[in-house]
Amino acid sequence: MRVMETALSADVLALLEASGLPTKDLRAGRPITFLAASLNGELLGCVGYESSRDVVLLRSLATQPMSQGSGLGLQLVMELQQHAKAAGGRTVFLLTTTAAPFFERLGYEWIARDGAPAFIAASTQFSGLCPGSAQLMTRRL
Ligand SMILES: CC(C)(COP(=O)(O)OP(=O)(O)OC[C@H]1O[C@@H](n2cnc3c(N)ncnc32)[C@H](O)[C@@H]1OP(=O)(O)O)[C@@H](O)C(=O)NCCC(=O)NCCS
Repeated sequence: MRVMETALSADVLALLEASGLPTKDLRAGRPITFLAASLNGELLGCVGYESSRDVVLLRSLATQPMSQGSGLGLQLVMELQQHAKAAGGRTVFLLTTTAAPFFERLGYEWIARDGAPAFIAASTQFSGLCPGSAQLMTRRL
C-alpha cells in the first residue's frame, strides 16, 4: 500500500460520494491537494486539504468500508499533516459531524466556530456544505 498525492479522479469522487461527504465544490471551488492510498491500482482511501499561508483545512477523508478499522484513516491524516507542514502549514482545522472521537485520538481539540480564521470561515464546508451542527476542531503541526 502506498500513499501519494493525486489529482481528483473518478475513483476519489466515487469514494467521497459513497461516504456521504460533500463533493459539489470539489471541481469548481478552491484548490485542493489530495492524497490517495492505493494497493495494486485500487483506491483504498483518500484525504484532502485546502491551505492559505499557514492555515490548513483538512477535508474529504474517507476509507473504503473493507479497509476500515485497520489504521488507514489514522495513517492518511498523519500523511496529510506531514505534507501540509512541508508546504508551510502550521495549524490544521476540520469540520466533522461524525468523527470527532477519531480526530481527538490524533490530538485535535474542539474550538468554537466563531474562533475560525477567515480562510476557514470562508470555505464552502464552513459556510454551507457542512451543517451548522458540525464541530470545528483544530491541531497545531
Ligand atoms: C472516518 C474514517 C475515515 C475512519 O477510517 P478508518 O480507516 O476506519 O480509520 P482507522 O482504522 O485508522 O481508525 C482508527 C481508530 O479510530 C476508530 N474510528 C474510526 N472512525 C471513527 C469514528 N467515526 N468515530 C470514532 N472512532 C472512530 C476506529 O474504530 C479505530 O479504533 P481502534 O484502533 O480502537 O480499533 C472512515 O470511517 C470513513 O471513511 N468514514 C466515512 C467518511 C467520514 O465520516 N469521514 C470523516 C469526515 S470528517
